Formats: sequence, structure tokens, C-alpha cells
Amino acid sequence: MSIDTTAINRRMSHFDRHDEVWLFGYGSLIYKVDFPYIERRPAYIRHWVRRLWQGSHDHRGTPQAPGRVVTLIPQAGASCVGMAYLIEPRTFAQLDEREKNGYLRFATALHFGEERTAEGLVYIATEENAAYLGPAPEADIARHIAASSGPSGPNRDYLLQLADALRGLDADDPHVFDIERHLVELIGHERGGH
Ligand code: SIN
Repeated sequence: MSIDTTAINRRMSHFDRHDEVWLFGYGSLIYKVDFPYIERRPAYIRHWVRRLWQGSHDHRGTPQAPGRVVTLIPQAGASCVGMAYLIEPRTFAQLDEREKNGYLRFATALHFGEERTAEGLVYIATEENAAYLGPAPEADIARHIAASSGPSGPNRDYLLQLADALRGLDADDPHVFDIERHLVELIGHERGGH
């Protein structure tokens, strides 16, 4: 599969007849909201975990030196907390462009609390995509992120903003918070000139 997924996502017609669609965001889509939406609310999806295992050639890194951004990895029994946006289907043109580096749209059940659920979409970069980097120890991921930067800014800002946004949602995410802890230490060392 080529890295650019816009053409594949355009063929994802699952919600074309709907006036409004729920989109689940679990990474930059939580805190960088540069697209129109009708309504948003915290939500979670089941049986997925957030991992900084996807390469970013276009936002937080370059083709020569990709950064690391989140994708979702299947894990039975797990929950992933994020933000759900009710959007018009035409907004996907803009989102497909933004998420084109390996992410595909998948239909999923969104949970808004104990009772309410809705069907919606989520962008996932699966292991098969060419930009997938895969697992690494959290300390190594932090070092990678500290050294990366791309057209959307430093990779460290992506991680730090994501961690802040997750705290704002009361989300428990040991993977992200562990990377954040290592990253903050590294930044401290840089500032201290070590
Ligand atoms: C998302 O936020 O839902 C997808 C990954 C990203 O753009 O960081």
C-alpha cells in the first residue's frame, strides 16, 4: 500500500447518505480542531489502545526523518478515550488530506457513557501501511520524538499537547504519560546543557 491513503478513503462510502457522521479522534484530532463540526463530546471506543507507533512524514517529521504519531492497536477488553465530533460528510475531504499518511477510515461503535452509543468513523494506520514504525520502548520513542520535527511543528509539541488533552479528558494512558515523562526529562537535560 502506498503511504497516501486519500484515494482509498474517498471510496469509503459507508456514511455518504448521512447528513451527519460521528468522527472519533484519539490523537491530534483531540486538540487540533481545524475543521468544522456541529457538536463534540468526549467518547471512547472499545478494544483498541493508543500507541505512538506510526511514522509521520508530513506533519511531525519528514520523508527522510519521520516523526512518531499515534495509531490504534487492537487489544481485547481495552478502551481508548478521545473526542467525538459530529461532522458533515463533506468535511472528510479535508480530514482525508490531513490524515493521508497511512490512515484509513474504519467504522466503529462510539460510546458516550454507560448508555449512549453511536456508529461512527475513526482513522487508523494499520501495520500494513508503509509509514508504520511499530513498537519500541517508551524511552526510545521519547528520544525519537525529541529529535523530530516537520511542517506541522516539533514532534515534542504533538506529544505534550496530546498528554495535556488526555489529562483534560481524565484519560488513563500509561503509554503516552510514560513517553511524556521521558520527554520532559530529555527537555530538562537540553535546557540544563547536559
Ligand atoms: C486522530 O487524532 O484521531 C488520528 C491521529 C492523529 O491525527 O494524530
